[in-house]
Amino acid sequence: MKLKIQQVTQKLPEVLIIPILKDQLENSLQEVEEWSGVKADTLAADFDGNFKKVHSFYNVDSPSNKKIILLGLGSEPNFPNTLKAFRMIASKMKAKLPKSLGVYFSQNWTKETIFPNLLEAAVNGWVMGHYNVGLYKTSNKKSKKTVPTVSWLLDQKIDTLHRKALTRGQACAETQASILDLVNAPANHKRPKVLADWAKKSAKANSFQCKVLDKKQIEQLKMGAFLAVNRGSEDPPHFIIMEHKPKKKNVKKIGLIGKGITFDTGGLSIKGSHNMHYMKSDMGGAAAVLGAMELIAKLDLPLHVIGIVPTTDNSVDALSVKPGDVVTSYSGKTIEIIDTDAEGRLILADGIAYMNKNFSPDIMIDLATLTGSCVRTLGYQAGGLFTDNEDLAKGLLEAGENTGERLWRLPLWDAYKKGLESDVADVRNLSTKPLAGASVAAKFLETFTDEHKAWAHLDIAGVALGNTEMGKGMNATAYGVRLLVEFLENL
Ligand code: BES
Ligand code: ZN
Ligand code: ZN
Repeated sequence: MKLKIQQVTQKLPEVLIIPILKDQLENSLQEVEEWSGVKADTLAADFDGNFKKVHSFYNVDSPSNKKIILLGLGSEPNFPNTLKAFRMIASKMKAKLPKSLGVYFSQNWTKETIFPNLLEAAVNGWVMGHYNVGLYKTSNKKSKKTVPTVSWLLDQKIDTLHRKALTRGQACAETQASILDLVNAPANHKRPKVLADWAKKSAKANSFQCKVLDKKQIEQLKMGAFLAVNRGSEDPPHFIIMEHKPKKKNVKKIGLIGKGITFDTGGLSIKGSHNMHYMKSDMGGAAAVLGAMELIAKLDLPLHVIGIVPTTDNSVDALSVKPGDVVTSYSGKTIEIIDTDAEGRLILADGIAYMNKNFSPDIMIDLATLTGSCVRTLGYQAGGLFTDNEDLAKGLLEAGENTGERLWRLPLWDAYKKGLESDVADVRNLSTKPLAGASVAAKFLETFTDEHKAWAHLDIAGVALGNTEMGKGMNATAYGVRLLVEFLENL
């Protein structure tokens, strides 16, 4: 997609989108009156500047500018709202875009010190709004991803911050779109190898390192918990290791781990069939890590970042792991598998232990669509955050608010560990009590962190999918990509 940025001139594009802040309604409409000849009072009767409110009209007096679209941003012009408003207008307009289109930001916007950040949000939302959820519609084949040039018009001189906002917004949206494709893909088009190939391709294109361990290597490393989940699968497991190393030396080392279950049937502890199709998104944590690695490399963040994704499906087969089986994890700790549907924590146990032992990161964050309990607690509004590290909590919560990819902190008290004591093994994967499932799962993972001082677990079961304007049903959100990058940039 082609995006241009320039100072506004007298000759306006055929169609002009004007984002308007509610607090600046009067003088904004005054300016629109000067351009269009339509009285500000008349416009005010139809348009109040409320969030996501749209009013469009024809500009009959102008030789070039034929149509003006007012876009309400409400009273809080922050990153998430700007992103959402532009995503909405783009997805509304994408079916038939005019040849010449502009987005105009008046001084009400450009005078704000956070304007470059808002411009980035607008560009990110605009590009992402063109996402096409109909991955396998035969009618979409040709028209897919063709977007005409859009001019971003400011009423002041363009500087490097503006240009940077444009490239960053676009870079982020393109990675997010690729992640949406990955999460929206059904399991028959998303075998574990597909995730591994995605990682390799992205590594090549964006110059980061990527190594994928195959089944033999995983066996040699004795990842017994990960292998247990793969037993019922038609496909071999893959253990993806990505690494971004900046030129700058003595930088912080960050470890990211993502749950990469390409489909979760529950295994022998099989799930009910109602809504089981959504379990194609049980690799939402992996998607966040893959996308974050790509964006970290694109932006060349001055941090040493390692991304790990263990990936397999969790299926039913004669060979499937059985409830009651005891396995030895990569850490050496034994696990009694009471419920084969609590498989995410098994593959993460090995992912986390591997990360810690082989990379000793300063900060370790895992992301996983881990529990239905977290969905029941927070709904689709936020991911659950579990950590004992106050700085980490603060940074992640802030990044969540800034990006609109919200987090809410939930407890990680030792009391939740009690139910995980096993008679026969070091730990069991299901609590004896059906309570506080998200906290118990986090406690299980903690067992494999070797008491790491800066570890956080993000349960994103409720936010990996959402009711976005991109589709009618639940579809991918790319949650976590932007959140992780925002968090890391602010370190
Ligand atoms: N993948 C699921 C969690 C999930 C549920 C994700 C709903 C997205 C939406 C996970 O593997 C799972 O099945 N968890 C069980 C754990 C239980 C057996 C302890 C759950 O939450 O029911
Ligand atoms: Zn499960
Ligand atoms: Zn799962």
